[in-house]
Amino acid sequence: MIQRFGVSIDATLLKKFDEYIERKGYITRSEAIRDLIRDALINESFEIENAEVFGTITVIYDHEVRGITEKITHLQHRYVKEIRAAVHVHVDEKNCLEVVIVHGKAKTIKEISDKLMSLRGVKNVKFQITRVEP
Ligand code: NI
Repeated sequence: MIQRFGVSIDATLLKKFDEYIERKGYITRSEAIRDLIRDALINESFEIENAEVFGTITVIYDHEVRGITEKITHLQHRYVKEIRAAVHVHVDEKNCLEVVIVHGKAKTIKEISDKLMSLRGVKNVKFQITRVEP
């Protein structure tokens, strides 16, 4: 069921919002607001430790750093229940990119991401979560 509600908003903020909507290519404000609400709820579920989420962890690392490949593999085996897939791309002679697709409790997923981030040789970690609902 679709419900309508009114929003009181400062004119300047609304102008900025309309510009944002245009840049993003939305046709209507409603569509943009719906997406923003969904995003906010998904991000909040990340704070609820027991929420079940899907996520991707993108890691850039220097494979020449001693032991790094083994450590990453070891970590993935340790979280075998949560890690559903991994894609590896060799970026250049030194650097590798790995995208890990994870599924499980937000708390555990965050743990995996933090552990990857703390490994020596890991240069960058981007972590994103999503949910089927809402
Ligand atoms: Ni590689």
